[in-house]
Amino acid sequence: MRAEPVFETGTHRWWVLFDQDERRVIDSNVYVVESSGQSAVLDPGGFEIFPQVLAAVAEVVPPTSVRKAFVSHQDPDIASSLPLWNACNNNIQWQVPGLWEGFIRHYGALDAEMVCIPDEGGSMMLGDRRLDFIPAHYLHASANFHLYDPEAKVLFCGDVGAALLPPGHGIWVGGRRGAESVRGFDEHIQHAKYFHQRWMPSNSAKLDWIDRVRQLQIDMLCPQHGAIYAGENVKRFLDWFEGLTVGSAIAR
Ligand SMILES: [Fe+2]
Ligand SMILES: [Fe+2]
Repeated sequence: MRAEPVFETGTHRWWVLFDQDERRVIDSNVYVVESSGQSAVLDPGGFEIFPQVLAAVAEVVPPTSVRKAFVSHQDPDIASSLPLWNACNNNIQWQVPGLWEGFIRHYGALDAEMVCIPDEGGSMMLGDRRLDFIPAHYLHASANFHLYDPEAKVLFCGDVGAALLPPGHGIWVGGRRGAESVRGFDEHIQHAKYFHQRWMPSNSAKLDWIDRVRQLQIDMLCPQHGAIYAGENVKRFLDWFEGLTVGSAIAR
């Protein structure tokens, strides 16, 4: 896995850890946030990729500085590494959707400290920064949250915005930090289309999320699979998603 900086200022930084070259399991992006010496991992990933994730985390922060883990929903590619993380660092506090706590415990580590996020969301402190839990229910899991950093203007958006991309592509939609054009976006979004049509179940949940997210100031939209939307590509993605009919397994 490689680590690339996403946001940096003084004592506050974000990285994305990604691996889009190998095809053992579905590619997952893991994000690391640091604030004043404390770190968080966002959607820390599956059991299968844990050694690579831990090695990449260690390149950017001391693993002992990890004090929080954010779990957007219950899927194995998000949270099945929980017992391995807990064995390495049992000072990590796990922030999980309350609805899924009893299910996430099935991954193991019954002694891990879990904090249940209520349906309406909330926030957590990391160092001296506040990070907000943004409800994203039914996108795609019944209880689902995204994580917003108001200072960095970064929204970690879990499976929303995900794309299943061919090996070797970059981590930015349309090139370095989204610098390129509509064409880069248009090519990219073809790899996101089926994923959203089939994995996202609810058009009304989609519109609710879009309304909520349009009220936030966002410079970067960071999904758990695929590439990051920056600058103009944030608005392009929201407009595209708004116009897409989801829930495609049910014929209407
Ligand atoms: Fe998922
Ligand atoms: Fe996922």
